[in-house]
Amino acid sequence: MKRIAVLASGRGSNFQALIDAIRDGQIPAVCVGLVTDNPAAYAITRAREVGIPVRVVDYTLFPEKGAFESALLAEMKSLDADLFVLAGYMRILGPGIVREFSGRMINIHPALLPSFAGLHAQRQALEYGVKVSGCTVHFVDEGMDTGPIIVQACVPVLDSDDEERLADRILAEEHRCLPLAVRLYCEGRLALIGRRVVLDKAGPGA
Ligand code: GRF
Repeated sequence: MKRIAVLASGRGSNFQALIDAIRDGQIPAVCVGLVTDNPAAYAITRAREVGIPVRVVDYTLFPEKGAFESALLAEMKSLDADLFVLAGYMRILGPGIVREFSGRMINIHPALLPSFAGLHAQRQALEYGVKVSGCTVHFVDEGMDTGPIIVQACVPVLDSDDEERLADRILAEEHRCLPLAVRLYCEGRLALIGRRVVLDKAGPGA
């Protein structure tokens, strides 16, 4: 059983998808904690409902980013997790944290990377006029949404879409892709070759 911890800043529907998948036996893992920068995040309610420990590191209580990041890092380390999942965590993590958990931190992004990195990805896709968009689960590196891609899924962009409709269609795919990526990680089925993530790579001599 792997130990996973989740970082979330808000609604937490992706966190819920993970909770449900673990409960249903689809992921060989235990969720050892939720870490949030936002004391008002609905994700906290979701965690408490199922007895997952919550660590709040309230960004507004710190004088500057460095102090916040040190506190966040300490909380993350104390969870002793094998994998950290950014599920709607809305702050950029500093290089210290990214390096500390290199290869064992993943993020979900609501666009087909490398298109539309950063905030408001669905709005960016609509404004650009693409006909398909989707979601991406990727390892976190020091760039903004630039790490090696684990899983992607696409959805059509319809003429009748506004940001909310497109976001909802993408979200349904996020709720499928994030548990899948976490499952593959926890089953030890992901290997990194250069910046390509490959599945079920045969070991030497196999
Ligand atoms: C998702 O669209 C995720 O891809 C993005 O922020 C949103 C979070 O939604 N990073 P939720 O908090 O998981 O419901």
